[in-house]
Amino acid sequence: MNRFEGGVAVVTGGAKGIGAACAARLASEGATVYVADVDEEAGRRLAERAEGDVRFQRCDASGAEDWAALSSTVLGAHGRLDTLVSNAFASVPGAAHEIAEADWDLTLDVTLKAAYLGVKTFIEPLRAARGAVVAVSSVHAHRSHPGYTAYAAAKGGLSALVRQLAVEYAPDVRFNSVAPGPILTTHWADTSEEEIEFAGGQTLAGRVGRPEEVAAAVAFLASGEAGYVNGAELPVDGGWLALK
Ligand SMILES: NC(=O)c1ccc[n+]([C@@H]2O[C@H](COP(=O)([O-])OP(=O)(O)OC[C@H]3O[C@@H](n4cnc5c(N)ncnc54)[C@H](O)[C@@H]3O)[C@@H](O)[C@H]2O)c1
Repeated sequence: MNRFEGGVAVVTGGAKGIGAACAARLASEGATVYVADVDEEAGRRLAERAEGDVRFQRCDASGAEDWAALSSTVLGAHGRLDTLVSNAFASVPGAAHEIAEADWDLTLDVTLKAAYLGVKTFIEPLRAARGAVVAVSSVHAHRSHPGYTAYAAAKGGLSALVRQLAVEYAPDVRFNSVAPGPILTTHWADTSEEEIEFAGGQTLAGRVGRPEEVAAAVAFLASGEAGYVNGAELPVDGGWLALK
C-alpha cells in the first residue's frame, strides 16, 4: 500500500515505541515523516536506519516555540502537512495528594496541551491538504486504576479534545484517536516478565500488543480509507475494554 505517497507527516514522540512504529509505517507507505521528540539519540538513530524518508527534529511537544521551529522546517521544505500524529506523553504516577503540582503540569502539558499546540500550529496547512490528525490516547481515558490520576485526566481530556476538534474543523480535517491497551514498548523497560504476562492476561487476546499493531490502526485512520470516519476513537487493546 502507498496510501501516503507524496504526503508529509509529523509524529510527536516518534523516536521510540508506538510513535516510532507509526513513523515507520507512514514512511513505508510513501510519506515524508518528521519525528518530533526530545530524545535526540533515539530520534537520529531512527531516521538513519529507517527504510523510508524519516527525518528527526528535536521538539518538546509541550513547548510552543519548538512547534514554531518545527513548522518552519516542515513548511519551509514542503509547504504542506497532511498527517499529524499526536503521540508524545508524560506520566508521573500517584494519587492526587501525592503528585507534586509540577508533575501534574508536566503530565498534562506533554500528554494533552501538546495536542492542542500541534493543531494550533498546523491547522491551516492541514486544512489546505484536507488532512487528518490521529491522537494516541489510552484505555485509561475510559477505565480507572489506582495511581494514574494525572495520566487518566490527561488522556480523558485528549479523547474529548479530539472529538471537539473534529466538530470545529469538519469537513476539512478529520480528527480521530486510538486507545491502546497494554503495548510492549520502551515504556515497559522495567516491567517484569510476570507483570507483562499478567497485563496480557487482562485482554481477550491473551497477550500484550505490539507497537506495529497500533501503527496499523493509526495509519488506517490517517488514510483516505477512513474518509468517512471522524471524531471516533478506536480501541487497539486486544479486547481489554470489552473484557472490563
Ligand atoms: N505502551 C502502552 O502500553 C500504552 C498504552 C496506552 C497508551 N499508550 C500511549 O502511547 C503513546 C506512546 O507510548 P509508548 O508506550 O510508545 O512510550 P515510549 O516511552 O516508548 O515512547 C514515548 C516517546 O515520547 C517521547 N517524549 C517524551 N516526552 C516528550 C516531549 N515533551 N515531546 C516530544 N516527545 C516526548 C519520548 O522521548 C519517547 O520517544 C503515549 O501517548 C502513551 O500514553 C501506550
